[in-house]
Amino acid sequence: MKKLLIATLLGLTAASAQVQAKTLLVYYSFTGNIEKAAVAVKDQTSTDVIQIQPAQKGLNYAANNYSLGSDLVDQIRSKPNDASSYPAIDPVDVDFSKYDTIIIGTPLWWSNMAAPMQTFLFHNGKAMAGKKIGLIVSSASSGISG
Ligand SMILES: Cc1cc2nc3c(=O)[nH]c(=O)nc-3n(C[C@H](O)[C@H](O)[C@H](O)COP(=O)(O)O)c2cc1C
Repeated sequence: MKKLLIATLLGLTAASAQVQAKTLLVYYSFTGNIEKAAVAVKDQTSTDVIQIQPAQKGLNYAANNYSLGSDLVDQIRSKPNDASSYPAIDPVDVDFSKYDTIIIGTPLWWSNMAAPMQTFLFHNGKAMAGKKIGLIVSSASSGISG
C-alpha cells in the first residue's frame, strides 16, 4: 500500500512537471523581421520570449556593404573558442531549468547566425544541453550553412 502511494505520488509529480514544461524563445533582430516572428509566437502561444540586445547601441551592421556585420562574423569564425571574439550583449538572466524547449530566432549574417546570437549561444549553449531546440531563421536569400 505504502509502495503504491509513493508510486502514485511520483507519477503525479512527473505529470505536473510535464504540464509545467515551458518553451522559451530567445531572439535577436536587427531590422525587425525576426522580431515580427517572435511577436507572432508570443501572441499565439504561451511561450516566454527574451530579446538579445548588443551592448554597444546604435551600430549599423549593414552600412558600407555590411562591413561591420561581416567583420563580427569573421572574428567569430577565425577564433570560435575565444570569448573575446564575440561582441558583448546586454546581460540575459534565464533560468533554463524552467524550459524543456528553446527556440532560437536569428537573422542570417553571411550564412551564419547573427553575431549577437552567437554570443548568447557561446555563453549559454551548455545550459541548453538535452533540451528540444527549435530554430527560426530569416535571410534575404541564402540558406544557413554554419
Ligand atoms: C551583416 C548582415 C549580413 C547579412 N548576410 C546575409 C546573407 O549572408 N544571406 C542573406 O540571404 N541575407 C543576409 N542578410 C540579410 C538578413 O539576413 C535579412 O534581411 C533578415 O531578414 C534580417 O532579419 P532581421 O530584420 O530580424 O534583422 C544580412 C544582413 C546583415 C545586416
